[in-house]
Amino acid sequence: MNDSNIQQRTHERIYELRGLLKGHNYRYYVLDAPQITDAEYDQLLRELSDLETQLGEPIPDDSPTQTVGFKPDKAFSSRKHAIPMLSLANAFSDEEISDFVRRHKDILADDVQLTYIAEPKVDGLAINIYYEFGQMVFAATRGDGITGEDVTDNIRSVTGIPWSLTGHVPKKFEVRGEVYMSKASFAALNQKQQEAGEKVFANPRNAAAGSLRQLDASITASRKLSFFAYATGLNGEQFASSQSELLQKLEQQGFAIQETALLSDESAMFKHYQTWMEKRPTLDYEIDGMVFKVNDFKQQKLLGSVARSPRWAIAYKFPAEEVETIVEAITWQVGRTGVITPVANMKPVNVAGVMVSRATLHNIQELARKDVRMGDRVVIRRAGDVIPEVVKSLSIGEYKRAELTSIPKHCPVCGAAVEQEEGEAAIRCTGGLSCSAQLKERIKHFVSRDGFDIEGFGSKLAESLVDKGLMKTIADVFALDFDTLATWEGMGEKKITNLRLGIESRKHIALSRFIYALGIRHVGQATASALAKHFKTLSAVQKASEEDLIEINDVGPEVAASLIHFFAEEHNQQVLQQMFEYGVQVLDDETAEADGNHPLAGKTVVITGSFSNIKRNQAKILLQQLGAKVASAVSKNTDILIAGEKAGSKLKKAEELGVQVVDETQLLTWLS
Ligand code: IVH
Repeated sequence: MNDSNIQQRTHERIYELRGLLKGHNYRYYVLDAPQITDAEYDQLLRELSDLETQLGEPIPDDSPTQTVGFKPDKAFSSRKHAIPMLSLANAFSDEEISDFVRRHKDILADDVQLTYIAEPKVDGLAINIYYEFGQMVFAATRGDGITGEDVTDNIRSVTGIPWSLTGHVPKKFEVRGEVYMSKASFAALNQKQQEAGEKVFANPRNAAAGSLRQLDASITASRKLSFFAYATGLNGEQFASSQSELLQKLEQQGFAIQETALLSDESAMFKHYQTWMEKRPTLDYEIDGMVFKVNDFKQQKLLGSVARSPRWAIAYKFPAEEVETIVEAITWQVGRTGVITPVANMKPVNVAGVMVSRATLHNIQELARKDVRMGDRVVIRRAGDVIPEVVKSLSIGEYKRAELTSIPKHCPVCGAAVEQEEGEAAIRCTGGLSCSAQLKERIKHFVSRDGFDIEGFGSKLAESLVDKGLMKTIADVFALDFDTLATWEGMGEKKITNLRLGIESRKHIALSRFIYALGIRHVGQATASALAKHFKTLSAVQKASEEDLIEINDVGPEVAASLIHFFAEEHNQQVLQQMFEYGVQVLDDETAEADGNHPLAGKTVVITGSFSNIKRNQAKILLQQLGAKVASAVSKNTDILIAGEKAGSKLKKAEELGVQVVDETQLLTWLS
C-alpha cells in the first residue's frame, strides 16, 4: 500500500471512530445505557487520539478527543459552566505513570519538590455546585464540559453536600465532585426495579446518573445518592493553595471527602495503586482507579491543561472485574409479569470477592447475539458488583460445541404456552396467576416496601405460602390462615403477631401505592403517582378511557393499554373485590397523607432506655400503627432514636452516627 492509500485508510478510520464514539457518548450520557465497557471505550478513544496525532491535521472541536460527555438533555435547563469541567487522562500501566511524572519534571524547574496526592476514582458522575454568599444556588452536571444540566432540585437530597457554607469562603464559589450510588443502595434499587418490571441499571454509575436526572425530585431522593468533593470551580484558588488543604477545608464545610495520601515519587504511586486494588472490593462504593494529582496549586497552574484534561492529574485505571468460567447449563427464570429470562448456570467463580454461579443473559435476543451455549468458556462480569452478566463466549468458532439452547415453547414452571409480543425482546408465560412462579413474584411485589409495605412478609414466606397452596391470589394476603402458619417451623408466636399487625396496619392504603402494588405491566411508581394525582379515586382510574389516560404526562399508549387490559380482566376484578371484602380501603393520596403520613410514617426508629409513662413494648406497637418501622439496633439506616432514662450504648452509637435523638416527651406527643 502506498502512502496516500494509508493516509486515506487513516482518514476513514478516524471518521468511523468519531461516529462510533459519539454514539457511545450518547448512550452513556443521555440514555444511561452504555453498550460497551469503559475499557472498550477507552481503547477506541485511544485509537482515535493516536490516529489524529499520526495524521497531523487540525482536529475539529467536536471530535470526541476534544470534548467531554454529551450535550445536555433538553428536559433540564442547561447551565454554562463558569470554568469548563475537564476530564482526566487515563493510564493503564506503571510506564504511563512514569511518563506522567517525567513530563512534570521536564516542564518544572529542576529543584522543585513535587508531591502527589492520591484519591480513589469514584465511579459516578461529576457535578458542579455553585454557592453565593455561602448558600447553594444551583448545581449542574458536567454535560459536555462546557454546558451541563441544571439538577439543583435533585442535588439537595444527595448526602455529603452542605446546603450552606460558613466562615471564610469566596463570595462566589463552586465545589465539584462526584455523585455516586453506594453498592448497597444500588442493589436495593435494582431489586425494586426488577420487581416492578422496570429498567434494571447495569451498574451504580448508570443508576446514579439515571436517578439524578429524574424530573420528580422525590424519586431522586428515594434513590439514596451520595457525594464526594474533589475539586473547586469558580474562585477555588482563593480558598486553598493545595489539593490536600482544599479537601481538608471542604470537609470542615461539611462535604464528604475520600481517604487520600500524599506521595513523593512514582514507586510510592505504584505501591499505593496495588494497595487500593486490594481494598477495592471491600469499599461500599465503586471505584475504577486511582487519581494522582500534583498537590500544589501553583505547580498545577504552571503545568496547565491540554485539550480535554489537565497535565497535572491522571487516572490510573484498575483492570475490569471480569473473569472466565464454564457454562454448565442454560435455564429459564420466570418473573412477576411472566417474562422468561435465560440464565447461565456456571461453575462457581470468585469475581471481585464474591462467588458467582448464575448470570443473566437478559433475553433471547441477547442470548442469540452472544451465542452462549452449554459447555462454553465465557467471560463474566459483575456489572456494578451486583448482577453478574455474561460478557461473551470464548468458545465461538470452536469445533465441538453444544447445540444452541432452544427457546421454550412452554413455561418451565407451569407448562403454559409461551408467547412473544411483536416488537418485544421478551418471551412470556401466558399462565398468569395460575403460574406459581408469577404468583410468587406478584406477591413479593405486592407486599414490598413501595407496595403495601408489609413488615414481616418476606420472599421466603411468599414462596412457601404459594408452594403449600395457602395463597392463590394477592388478595389472600388479607386472609392468611394463621393457625396453619403457626404450625410451621420457624414461625413463632412473635413472628405471627408481628405479621398480623403488619397486615392489619396496612389495610388503609394510598391510591398511588395501591396501583403500584398491583404490579400492572409498565406501571411503576412514577406512573402510579401520576395516576393517583390525576384521578384521585380507584374507580376513576378503573373507568378511565384510553384518551383520559394518555392525557397524563407519564402515560403513553402502551401504558394506557396495559391499564385498560388489567382492569377489564374478570379475574383481576374479582381479586380487587375480594381485597375490599377483606377490609382494604384505598384512600386518595392526600387523605392518606393526612392520616397516614404521620411524621413517623415510613421512618425507622429504635427505642432504648426506660420510660415513665409507657411500656416499651406498648410504645413499639403504637409506633408501628403510625407507620414507623421499629428496629432493634441503631445503624446508619436509623432515622430516629427514642431514648428514655438510662439509655446506654444505643444512644452513644446514634450520636456517633448523627442520628436524630428524641426523648419521652416527644414520643408522647407523637403518640397522642
Ligand atoms: S478530578 C480536572 N478526582 O473522573 C480534573 N475526578 O475521568 C477534574 N472522578 O470527570 C476531575 N473521582 O467525574 C477527579 N478523585 C477524583 C475523581 C474524579 C472520579 C471522575 C470525574 C471526572 C472523571 C474524569
